[in-house]
Amino acid sequence: MEVIVVDNEQDGAELVADTICNLVAKAPTTVLGLATGSTPSATYAELCKRSEFGLDFSRTTVFMLDEFLGLEPDDDSLYLNSIRSWFTDPVGIPREQVHAPDSCTQDIARECKEYEEKIRAAGGVDLQLLGIGRDGHIAFNEPTSSLGSRTRVKTLTDQSRWDNAEGFNARQAASQALASSIDEETRSTWQPDPEQVPLHVITQGIGTILEAKHLILLANGSHKSDAIAATVEGPITSMVPATALQMHPHATVVVDQQAAAKLQLIDYYQAIHAAKIHLQPRIT
Ligand code: GLP
Repeated sequence: MEVIVVDNEQDGAELVADTICNLVAKAPTTVLGLATGSTPSATYAELCKRSEFGLDFSRTTVFMLDEFLGLEPDDDSLYLNSIRSWFTDPVGIPREQVHAPDSCTQDIARECKEYEEKIRAAGGVDLQLLGIGRDGHIAFNEPTSSLGSRTRVKTLTDQSRWDNAEGFNARQAASQALASSIDEETRSTWQPDPEQVPLHVITQGIGTILEAKHLILLANGSHKSDAIAATVEGPITSMVPATALQMHPHATVVVDQQAAAKLQLIDYYQAIHAAKIHLQPRIT
């Protein structure tokens, strides 16, 4: 596993954007696996800037890691709608090439099986971008998820519902019958409400994620430092699902100083990076 410690979130976003751009420039039909959550949003903003300078994403295919169950197709809180507005619509990836598990499915087993088949039919994921939960979950593989798991339904922990609650403020407003013209001051008083977050999700399994050719896990902030230390330096355990990355032949962890703060071998990781010779592979 390669660990790259960057000075701040923006540097991490630029590094990951460089990697994605190089891949798409070399192979326009690249299959990207994408995450939502707040961590990768700076990377998506960076990619939107690059596309304005002419990088063509129109032949790229996208598979989302996970999706909430039971939301209507036009719900802003759907991960599919988030990725469309943050990245895939602005850079011109046709919507039929952007896939997420169907939130409204009436047949979960079939939906999960077909999602896996779609990934396989597309030739697998070339580059999978991952965030990490503060308990070490990846996608929505909560602690004790099987390390060999495939796409399936999962029940969220209370912590995950809390952590995702902010993205559900609009629903909160709707449920409280607040008018959309509500002023900013009132809006700023809304408290995230975990009850608005669906209890169930469909998520790619850890076994599914490990089949991507390159994994990049991005983390920022001190609230991720325990999870990062466990992921990189702890024993492989389903209690920290991200530790499964240790078994992947090409996994890169990009962390800012705060998220890296509890890594015992941080000096070594920085020395490796500084001493890279031109023959050694680089993230980009
Ligand atoms: C959710 C998502 C994960 C994401 C995690 C961390 O659980 N399903 O894919 O990595 O949140 O989110 P954030 O980046 O906002 O900390």
